[in-house]
Amino acid sequence: MSKNTYYVTTPIYYVNDKPHLGHAYTTIACDVLARFKRLDGFDVKFLTGTDEHGLKVKQSAEKAGMTPQQFTDEVSVTFRDLVPLLQYTNDDFIRTTEERHKKACQALWTKLVETGDIYLSKYEGWYAVRDEAYYDEEELKDGPDGKKLAPTGAPVEWMVEESYFFKLSAWQDKLLKFYNENPHFVMPESRFNEVKSFVKGGLKDLSVSRTTFDWGVKVPGNGKHVMYVWIDALTNYLTAAGYPNDCSKYWPADLHMIGKDILRFHAVYWPAFLLAAGIAPPKRVFAHGWWTIEGEKMSKSLGNVIAPEDLVARYGVDASRYFLLREVPFGNDGDFSHSQAINRINNDLANGLGNLAQRTLSFIYKNCEAKIPAPSEYTQDDTILLTKAHNAIINVREQIDNQAFHKAFEAIWSVVNDANAYIDTQAPWSLKKTDTARMGTVLYVLCEVIRCLGILLQPVIPTAAGKLLDQLVIPANERSFVNIANHLKAGTVIAQPEGIFPRLEEKAAA
Ligand code: MSP
Repeated sequence: MSKNTYYVTTPIYYVNDKPHLGHAYTTIACDVLARFKRLDGFDVKFLTGTDEHGLKVKQSAEKAGMTPQQFTDEVSVTFRDLVPLLQYTNDDFIRTTEERHKKACQALWTKLVETGDIYLSKYEGWYAVRDEAYYDEEELKDGPDGKKLAPTGAPVEWMVEESYFFKLSAWQDKLLKFYNENPHFVMPESRFNEVKSFVKGGLKDLSVSRTTFDWGVKVPGNGKHVMYVWIDALTNYLTAAGYPNDCSKYWPADLHMIGKDILRFHAVYWPAFLLAAGIAPPKRVFAHGWWTIEGEKMSKSLGNVIAPEDLVARYGVDASRYFLLREVPFGNDGDFSHSQAINRINNDLANGLGNLAQRTLSFIYKNCEAKIPAPSEYTQDDTILLTKAHNAIINVREQIDNQAFHKAFEAIWSVVNDANAYIDTQAPWSLKKTDTARMGTVLYVLCEVIRCLGILLQPVIPTAAGKLLDQLVIPANERSFVNIANHLKAGTVIAQPEGIFPRLEEKAAA
């Protein structure tokens, strides 16, 4: 029997920078999945957090005149603050500086030493002290005095450093076999192909410890070394599942959601570490695309970084969440523009969904003593629309299981559009004068469709969907996906309808 649990994770975010639109994008996607699965009856664990070790963080702390711990405490909060702002429903927030995490990293490390997959050796190469980085021979250029220089212009010297290595070279065939046996391990497929060709190209052992700085998890039994930040960071997914204690309730994770920039770590190194330790790899890694801003890469120097709080201040939480996941096919890169956001929000949310609800509910409020009318006989048009609304979950579930958010919302909006066309053709305002029984049926059908839409849309626009369901007086325990099959009680007195999405003015938003 398949497990009824669902474990979804975001990358843990570096604390050397403040959160921006890109970080929000990944977490919103996971939040929609987590909420969706809960409504679909799963026991969900949704994890996010911050990645707090490593040289970059140490340097940022120094620049800010703080200790690394003070610095990470301060920046980590800015990521935690996004939880209420964007209405994330994460069940845990992990920081890699927590004791539970250090314990998990050291346990995994010890296991890998025991299996012979981690060994002590020497790392040799061209090192630029100024950059604190190694460079390949081919990357170097000749300086004026004949000395070699890094591409950054920094002088390099041949360094020999003691380092622990992970025997990645031994995992090439086993990884390829694992990929073969798990054809949806990485999505989208094109990204999986990149991963496979990288592995087919041969794997070198990986240096997994550092002795040049100490801001990291100490290597068990050799305090001179701290663990390489990626082995530390990736282990967070296990820590939160309970490792090294029994973590079988949620592990293996169902989905690691990441940006395409960190795919190799998640799809090559991570499964190799896990297979070596005798732990099952996650079921899927989804690598989404990157956002640019009005055609430009988001960067501090260009001054075009979009902070999540600015987005919310401009469009509201629901509309921001919806726009980001609807506009660009999930997996592709996308370009953010305010004019596109305004168009999408006005068309789909204000004119599409908002208008449908407002027209229907305020008509009932004014003309039917605020009571949902009882239906009489259904026509074919009624049945077609009702069936489509009741069955939409089947297609939506499939799309969500493939992380195809845009397709899931497209399917939901096909119901919204049909319902708006239905209200125009059926014209309840005319039926009011000629056939009130038929008018009642039409209004009942519309309320029933709005109920289904309200339930289906809770994961992405939680506040607005909640308002719709409140207006229809749907009790809290009848808002799950199984309840879509219920039917509204005729005669229910609805609350006074209020608009759920105001139309945005282009000039006000510009
Ligand atoms: N700390 C590592 C991840 C360790 S996971 C074990 C890291 N952190 S990060 O802060 O740089 O951010 C990672 C994620 O933020 C990316 O993988 C991606 O999900 C998201 N994004 C950052 N900038 C982005 C865009 N411009 N567009 C979309 N997402 C982007 O890497």
